[in-house]
Amino acid sequence: MYSVVAESLADQLATLHSSMRERFAGVDRIAVALHDDKTGLLKTFVHSTDGPTPLERYETALEGVPSLTSLAAERADRVIDDLSELAGSDHLHTAKVLEAGYRSSFTAPLFEGVQLIGFVFFDSKARAYFSGPRVEDLRTFTRLVSLAVLDSLVPARIVRSAVQVATRLTHFRDPETGAHLDRMSRYARLIIRAVAADNGLSDETVEFLFLFAPLHDIGKVAIPDAILLKRAPLSDAEFEVMKTHARRGGEIVDQVIGDLQLPNFPHAGMLRNLVVFHHEAFDGGGYPEGLSHGQIPIEARIIAVADVFDALMSQRPYKRAWTMEESLEFLVRGARTRFDPTCVNALTSQTDAVEAIRQRFVDDAGSLTESREGYAPDL
Ligand code: C2E
Ligand code: SIN
Ligand code: SIN
Ligand code: FE
Ligand code: FE
Repeated sequence: MYSVVAESLADQLATLHSSMRERFAGVDRIAVALHDDKTGLLKTFVHSTDGPTPLERYETALEGVPSLTSLAAERADRVIDDLSELAGSDHLHTAKVLEAGYRSSFTAPLFEGVQLIGFVFFDSKARAYFSGPRVEDLRTFTRLVSLAVLDSLVPARIVRSAVQVATRLTHFRDPETGAHLDRMSRYARLIIRAVAADNGLSDETVEFLFLFAPLHDIGKVAIPDAILLKRAPLSDAEFEVMKTHARRGGEIVDQVIGDLQLPNFPHAGMLRNLVVFHHEAFDGGGYPEGLSHGQIPIEARIIAVADVFDALMSQRPYKRAWTMEESLEFLVRGARTRFDPTCVNALTSQTDAVEAIRQRFVDDAGSLTESREGYAPDL
């Protein structure tokens, strides 16, 4: 569909790994973990592993790992010659990496300016593989990994910025707050993590869905103020116009990707799918295409649940905020008709995590502008 075909970040990492192994045959694994600066979570993202990966869909609070926290604070890298010295660690990731037979590692934090993006881990099954003169070469490879990772994350931000500019040009008017987008993207992440194994979705896909989720309603920039900002329920005719935001969003995605000629845009198809199909209903009664069940891309089925759940709990000029109980009940009643039941179940079975997200991202009264600025990067 797009003139630019980007391989996944995992493919790029695999290529890097194999060229690295021409000189350093003992590097058995390269893994990248991403950092979420709003929640402090460190999350498995992409890896290239000789054999099965010891870690998948794993996340942990960075502040709970002092050794990594200090690497980030000092912008330093670290060699561990004998991982078995960490055997007493109560970190699951350390235990898993050891159990898989890795014996030494090189770890470096990844930065974009002053912002911590994540960490790269090089692991070897040989003891003390990374010490000595190899360290300088490892730093070079670290820069290459870092470039590939940043390069893959940049398009999502560029699209967000472009949409933000367009919104500001038309003037400030989006009734959705930044907090709504923070929450719904994290609900979407909870859901996709729960359904990933059954749908064969990688950690990379999980994190890109999370990055793209806040863009699901970009088509609303094309909706006239008189409808978008109406302080009362919409008439049927107005709702017909409102419904065009799904297809218009897809056109905007195509246009932005085409215009900006982004050289590397992994998962652009996933972005387009969730923008266009997030109002499809599981039984075929939704819009814009009336797709049903498996015809609806899984990313769109996930966004539908996350978006409606948070929209219900949000106050809008034309409706009060529903309680969490009412909103969960709405999802359960709509499972199978409106929503993919596996996605509903993924959310309703994690109410503690839902509650934590709700408490972490609160709409602060009267700061619509402020919170909105929070979700898109400064230009
Ligand atoms: P949104 O506010 O992001 O809402 C997303 C979806 O959440 C809605 O999709 C709907 O499925 C669900 N939802 C939100 N609030 C309610 C509610 O009070 N009751 C029920 N049963 N469902 C709710 P939908 O209906 O396709 O609407 C798409 C977008 O259209 C909404 O996005 C909102 O921007 C706009 N919209 C919908 N109804 C009204 C309205 O009465 N007045 C205005 N001004 N805008 C509306
Ligand atoms: C991680 O903690 O995400 C990866 C650890 C490793 O592979 O060494
Ligand atoms: C630990 O588990 O204590 C250290 C893990 C790491 O820094 O990679
Ligand atoms: Fe929408
Ligand atoms: Fe929304």
